Amino acid sequence: MSLNVAAVRTQFPALDLTVAGRPAIFFDGPGGTQMPQRVIDRMVRYLVHENANTGGPFATSVANDAMLANARAVFADYFNCAADEVAFCHNSTTICFKLAQAIARDLQRGDEILVTDIDHEANRSPWTVLADRGIVVQSVRVNPQTCTLDLDDLAGKLTKRTKVVAFNAASNAVGTISDAKAIVRLARSVGALTVADAVHYALHRVIDVQDLGVDFMFCSAYKFFGPHVGVLYARRERLEALRTLKVVPQKDYAPDMFETGTLNHEGIAGAAEAVEFLADVGRHHAGSVAGPEAGNERRRAIARGVLAMEEHEQPLAQHFREQLARIPGLRLYGPPAGHPCTSTISFRLGSWHPDALCQRLAERGIFTWAGSFYAVRLVEVLGLRESGGLLRIGLAPYNTRDEVDRALVEIRALAAESA
Ligand SMILES: Cc1ncc(COP(=O)(O)O)c(C=O)c1O
Repeated sequence: MSLNVAAVRTQFPALDLTVAGRPAIFFDGPGGTQMPQRVIDRMVRYLVHENANTGGPFATSVANDAMLANARAVFADYFNCAADEVAFCHNSTTICFKLAQAIARDLQRGDEILVTDIDHEANRSPWTVLADRGIVVQSVRVNPQTCTLDLDDLAGKLTKRTKVVAFNAASNAVGTISDAKAIVRLARSVGALTVADAVHYALHRVIDVQDLGVDFMFCSAYKFFGPHVGVLYARRERLEALRTLKVVPQKDYAPDMFETGTLNHEGIAGAAEAVEFLADVGRHHAGSVAGPEAGNERRRAIARGVLAMEEHEQPLAQHFREQLARIPGLRLYGPPAGHPCTSTISFRLGSWHPDALCQRLAERGIFTWAGSFYAVRLVEVLGLRESGGLLRIGLAPYNTRDEVDRALVEIRALAAESA
């Protein structure tokens, strides 16, 4: 037995929603997942009992500081790093802008940065704007046939002047999981820093920054059952070597040197609780799924939870893709079978504009996304920018085979309508 989906589903109050008399189907996970009750409760508990700024001697401030310390410890287990290598921020896009601005302070004209064609703009725009300062920014090609990164192109674009390689571990638009370890190895061969976007990866793979060898890696808790908070792993010596943008009284050591202003404390409490939810899934609802043996109890439980969710989603995604592929006029976009991929499925259907398809599915209670999902360059390379991008379905652990089959009925009907 694998993931106990019923036990997972009961924890998500949002799943009670109905549209036109039928239960809503949440296939919008890559844009943000729903929240278990315990995460909602944790934020309420913070706001009622622990709501204060940092560093005061009174009860609420002491409780607040304990919450922050605990949240760092929780995310240290999540990333497999030390607690002072965890920094919180508004969201991943802001994390990347702040990192890029800090790194750029020590770059010279003619220094080089590599981004990729498969990335979300969150890990492209913060770097491409540095061209204004004479930094040479190049983008690694993606193969439009396979929706995979061309690592030969990456290797060919590395030079002694490459200072940063920015890439995503998984594509939010088409689900492709890139070979992060290979990218880090290549970047290191020229001494470049690595900045990895794990925003889409986080829901689908166990993050292990030691194993990957990355210098910086960020994710957003709202993509894995938490609130809207960004979380950064920053290798201590790399962060402390940067001149981060900070106010005068701010500390100059990790992670304080990255965290400007008052943080979203209630959000951080909720984000840590989302990780505790993953650990709880690993402890109690993962069936016989085998987890790793390394790490402390919570890290092993988190890993087991994530693995169990993935073992549930992958066969569902495979069934979904196989059935979609049989629909005349439907074209799937994503890596070939056998290439690592999340349970995110993107396609075009006949003459349907993705927005119209998304709208019609929404009216039937099926929540999907249409467009570029800020992976603007990828959608351009795929030749879909002018015509509306893609229709994207993302599976989460609370999705079921019945939901997939109900969606297939609707998509087949819409295909017949356009034929
Ligand atoms: C792969 C990827 N990177 C970055 C982001 C941006 O994250 P945030 O909204 O936290 O800035 C997203 C959001 O959709 C994403 O999917």
